[in-house]
Amino acid sequence: VLIDDELLKKYSKYYFLNENYAPASTTLIDLNLTLNNKNVPILTEIKPKLENMINTAKLEGVTLVVHSGYRSFKEQMGLKSAYTQKFGLSKSNQFSADQGYSEHQLGTTVDISDGKSGLSTNFEKTPSFVWLQNNAHKYGFILSYPKNNSYYIYEPWHYRYVGVELATYLKTNNLNFYDLDQNVIDTYKIKIFE
Ligand code: DAL
Ligand code: ZN
Repeated sequence: VLIDDELLKKYSKYYFLNENYAPASTTLIDLNLTLNNKNVPILTEIKPKLENMINTAKLEGVTLVVHSGYRSFKEQMGLKSAYTQKFGLSKSNQFSADQGYSEHQLGTTVDISDGKSGLSTNFEKTPSFVWLQNNAHKYGFILSYPKNNSYYIYEPWHYRYVGVELATYLKTNNLNFYDLDQNVIDTYKIKIFE
């Protein structure tokens, strides 16, 4: 099985994703699960895993709403430049990746809220966030930017798919993805979609 080498690389501020990089295949997330039923693309293999997570949460009385998923290099460039115009560069650098450095370009990453708190630190106080903290790893998702990470502000809404095995390892050992050596991370690649 050939698995895209980029899917488990560390990006954020230090690792650059080629501007021509696009996921092999993207699919829209079920519109019932997205903010205002908007079109949100995601890597095709991950769609059922994400939808399973959200639908299970719903059965347990917890609402999860997807705000964004795959973003192309160009879209990220537009977004970053809009934030920079609005807030200035030093501020926008704290919460928005430059084009080529965003996990969203992988197609494996989503922003999730409870549909009310928006993408803000307040999301942390919701049952939806608590549910994700306890359960996201079972579906292969991790929080990329926890409190006091060295890349961006705390982003309780930003989840990246790394596979159940790696996500469970991180959760069990109370570790963050970006604290692991790339060599260690790479050993999980072959099982990412299991
Ligand atoms: N908000 C995260 C850092 C991004 O722009 O990818
Ligand atoms: Zn995000």
